[in-house]
Amino acid sequence: MEKTVQLYEGKAKKVFATENEELLIVSYKDDATAFNGLKKGTIVGKGAINNRMSNLLMQMLEKKGVPTHFVEELNDRETVVKRVSIVPLEVIIRNISAGSFAKRYGVPEGIVFDAPTIEFSYKNDDLGDPLINSYHALALKLATPEEIETIKTYAFKVNEELRKFWTECGVTLVDFKLEFGRLSDGTIVLADEISPDTCRLWDSATGEKLDKDRFRRDMGGVEDAYAEIMRRLLENV
Ligand code: TMP
Repeated sequence: MEKTVQLYEGKAKKVFATENEELLIVSYKDDATAFNGLKKGTIVGKGAINNRMSNLLMQMLEKKGVPTHFVEELNDRETVVKRVSIVPLEVIIRNISAGSFAKRYGVPEGIVFDAPTIEFSYKNDDLGDPLINSYHALALKLATPEEIETIKTYAFKVNEELRKFWTECGVTLVDFKLEFGRLSDGTIVLADEISPDTCRLWDSATGEKLDKDRFRRDMGGVEDAYAEIMRRLLENV
């Protein structure tokens, strides 16, 4: 499989067309941004880690009944995925208070919820990805009622499976963001990536942050945290 033209360059990935209309190649970069691109930097080795981790987790989720865009890993940074049209919703599941939840509702980080929460943001950089509810998503025609139901079901299933997996690795899955896409026949599949860029992952024993919050919050040890979380994953996969 060969790349033809570059279709898109995002904050963390480039996307290329291929000879096959239905397939794309994504290439993961070491670039990191936060706060809608205001903060910029590099996390050396991130592209390769996120590529590998996302692919391994998506293959695991496929086996558990969640369809994904994953097709084939080409090399350490590049993966063949199914072409989708992205549903412009960021789907966020939370098990423990952190980040914007803690800030918005004025609670400390680390409160364990009785049940996971789900929320949607409208994927729109110009507007700063505003929080919306499912009625707003329908009003804005971002997805159909059936698609929203499917997305919710898959998102909670992903949470169940990832939580189990990370627990075995000695890691607590605090929260994460998913994106879904439509194949040409309309089927909803999990797309984008699942990585330390898009999940909060805390060492279960020490509470140490092993994710992109180290970059967002200038905590240092960013590369080490990415390497450590990858090591934990590879030990248990
Ligand atoms: P938040 O607490 O900042 O809303 O983030 C919730 C989760 O979503 C967290 O695991 C990080 C992830 N996330 C992204 O993947 N992309 C983003 O642009 C943001 C803001 C959060």
